[in-house]
Amino acid sequence: MSSINYAEKIPNNVDIGGDRTLQRALEHWQPHFLQWWQEMGPSDFATADVYLRTAISVDAQGWAHYGATKMPDYRWGIFLADRQAERKIGFGDAMGQPVWQQVPGEYRSTLRRLIVTQGDTEPASVEQQRLLGHTCPSMYDLRNLFQINVEEGRHLWAMVYLLHAYFGRDGREEAEELLARHSGDADKPRILTTFNEPMSDWLSLFCFTYFTDRDGKYQLKSFAESAFDPLSRTCRFMLTEEAHHMFVGETGISRVVKRTLEVMKEIGSDDPARVRAKGAVDLQTLQKYLNFWCSSSLDLFGSEISSNSAANFASGMKGRPDETQYEDHVLRSSSKKLHTPEGEQEVPMLNALNEVMRESYLKDCEIGLKRWNRMIERAGHALRLTLPSSRFRRSIGPWAGVPVDTTGKMISKEEFEKHLTEWIPSASDKAFVQSLMQRVIEPGRMAGWIAPPERGINNLPVEYEYVHLH
Ligand SMILES: [Fe+2]
Ligand SMILES: [Fe+2]
Repeated sequence: MSSINYAEKIPNNVDIGGDRTLQRALEHWQPHFLQWWQEMGPSDFATADVYLRTAISVDAQGWAHYGATKMPDYRWGIFLADRQAERKIGFGDAMGQPVWQQVPGEYRSTLRRLIVTQGDTEPASVEQQRLLGHTCPSMYDLRNLFQINVEEGRHLWAMVYLLHAYFGRDGREEAEELLARHSGDADKPRILTTFNEPMSDWLSLFCFTYFTDRDGKYQLKSFAESAFDPLSRTCRFMLTEEAHHMFVGETGISRVVKRTLEVMKEIGSDDPARVRAKGAVDLQTLQKYLNFWCSSSLDLFGSEISSNSAANFASGMKGRPDETQYEDHVLRSSSKKLHTPEGEQEVPMLNALNEVMRESYLKDCEIGLKRWNRMIERAGHALRLTLPSSRFRRSIGPWAGVPVDTTGKMISKEEFEKHLTEWIPSASDKAFVQSLMQRVIEPGRMAGWIAPPERGINNLPVEYEYVHLH
């Protein structure tokens, strides 16, 4: 197992101290990061003691330490999963050859772009979520928000380490740019659209952590297969932390559904207006939020037909999530049928990998839906929550801008525009959800629109004081 040198300024298991140039570059970037955290990270709460998990090793058992920490003092470290001796490239044209410990010259700019695009999403989400602390539905939820925020900060560190350690001066410049772009900024927005969407309520946060962090999981899984070994090792460890982010999304939505069903039972009605009047989120509104964040996240996988996906796979830079589950790892002789607005199209498999990934992602998304629908069914209601069709509201790929309904049926532009606010949150839906966002901060108490969690953090009771405010 690797050991971590806590005597160093930046906790790490990659022997930064053994490379003076790298150490100096990172120590130069660190104050810029802290300044960004202060300006763009969680608004207020800098002096609060938060019960946080901190990565301290990459050991399967005991990789994290729990304790009260002020967020600006969080120990953002650089941890890579342990190196596997003799690791070989597992897919593409160079399959079976040794993995790369350095960046091959011909792939340098593509790899840098891939790392920057991934890295950009990490601070972007912190920026999107920066005001949510003011309207937390409970202290337990507040702590989870901050846990996600500090870990996204650490994921930024993970990508910045790769840029500094393997991409020289260009990498250092990119690391600065990662702090200069901002979510939703008119002049310097974040790279991907979903990460520029405003997030002003907790229902959006739960949908974001359910759908968008899950896209993160799939991206990290595909990079975990990469022939560039440091990237693979970085992403393998990031996945350990990512699981909690999706947990927050899945249990968050479960708790909203649970509370709504309680209210429906109380009033003996499923009338959305009456559910709202009782201060709960009606299931119709929840469906709209699911439609919005799912469709937005689907674009993150890129175009259905993509020469980049083919090149990245063939070269070994980016594999498929869980590459070993497939039989063919070269894909030079297979193809895939894709549905486009012009009809069915047969595409070389290498060019259809974004779609392969999107399909397995959607399968993963179904798991939560099944759970929520079981709850609704058990409560005796006919409504079922669904995922929108992957053609709905797309901005990338053959379905970009094509008017389709949530089931994927092509309709006229007029119909689409007329019905859109029945499918995604309208201004009045957002205003209603916003009206529920009242801060609840007494330990153990919950806002009226969400049920308590089944258990607390790290075996502590739900009513534990997870955030100590001064
Ligand atoms: Fe992340
Ligand atoms: Fe995440």
